[in-house]
Amino acid sequence: MRKIVTIIGTRPQLVKVAPVSRVLRKQFHEVLVNTGQHYDYNMAGVFFEELQIPRPDYDLGVGSGSHGRQTGEMLIRLEELLLKEKPDAVLVYGDTNSTLAGALAASKLHMPLMHIEAGLRSFNKRMPEELNRIMTDHVSDLLFAPTDTAVQNLAAEGITRNVHQVGDVMYDAMIYNASVARNKYDLKRFGVTENAFFLATIHRAENTDDPVRLRAIFESLMALNADVVLPLHPRTRNRLKDSGIDVSTANAGRLKIVDPVSYLEMLLLETNARGIITDSGGVQKEAYFARKPCFTLRPQTEWVETVQAGWNCLVDVTTERLSDIIADKLKDTPKYVENLYGDGKAAEKIVSHITDFLGG
Ligand code: UD1
Ligand code: UDP
Repeated sequence: MRKIVTIIGTRPQLVKVAPVSRVLRKQFHEVLVNTGQHYDYNMAGVFFEELQIPRPDYDLGVGSGSHGRQTGEMLIRLEELLLKEKPDAVLVYGDTNSTLAGALAASKLHMPLMHIEAGLRSFNKRMPEELNRIMTDHVSDLLFAPTDTAVQNLAAEGITRNVHQVGDVMYDAMIYNASVARNKYDLKRFGVTENAFFLATIHRAENTDDPVRLRAIFESLMALNADVVLPLHPRTRNRLKDSGIDVSTANAGRLKIVDPVSYLEMLLLETNARGIITDSGGVQKEAYFARKPCFTLRPQTEWVETVQAGWNCLVDVTTERLSDIIADKLKDTPKYVENLYGDGKAAEKIVSHITDFLGG
């Protein structure tokens, strides 16, 4: 059996690897490597359990650090283990520092590199994710693009060989888990009721690391005059503290801040919310899959199809009133365009292309 080393390490990568691993392991020997970029139980462990992700063969335990230190530590350990494992190919996901470290380690060792979620671009090079994506795509040998836009983005950079449009693996994950989520958890835990609350998540560095933006975001959420459930990413929790922004229950009013929730709890919240406010890449798509209007607190998005379809709008809370934009948007429901991100069978398509590329 051909051997593939898969490298993951953050929350969204755990969601993405689950459906792919399930199919990949029918035909390949997968060696799973967890860099440990995310390590809290509610950012990592609970996802392994709920999504039944196989136990990693390697836990690198790299943890947090500056970009250079974190990526560098990963690179050192990944190089060692790739030399030992001698895989037929290396598989990476998305755009995090774990992705970039995996891409650099594999490509420098001349091991075929495969990238899932290739071709995404925000055209904002100040985002660490944009740099990670560009660099990973340019050293990848087999590229799985979720959308036509992603294929075009790659072509514009001269990458046209071994590029396949397969749809989005997060859609596979959501379809597989949606009914389980409904039966396992209850909205009562969050003190909200169906269609009568907003779900919010905020964690992007460009929002959290700018105290003015961060304050404007939380003030906008507190001013909504509606229940808002916000599972708080640890990066954001730390930055709120550093900036002295008071989000205590006494001050936050109807903004209910909770610890990060599990994937199944998140699906329950997403599918029952009135609307979703976020800066997450994955959550923008999930809002669309759940047919919920999304308000993305960023100047641009990689998931342009959600905006074009009328289900997502970009909001700058430093110049616009979030409450007005939401009220306006909720007046009508746009038409739903099916299969913008594939048909929920991205994992099967990916494995079939890997088989063609590597030979069974
Ligand atoms: C990373 C990715 C980002 C992705 C996000 C998903 C990079 C450059 N960024 O951002 O693209 O959208 O993951 O959630 O790779 N922390 C904890 N516990 C944890 C993990 C993190 O407390 O389990 C705290 C630490 O203080 C850490 C900070 O969060 O310094 C940021 O974590 P890090 O993994 O560096 O970046 P994210 O913001 O999570
Ligand atoms: N998610 C979750 N619990 C949370 C917040 C997010 O399960 O408290 C899930 C979310 O449903 C999606 C993924 O994590 O599947 C997105 O990860 P994140 O927003 O951290 O990263 P991004 O997609 O922006 O890289």
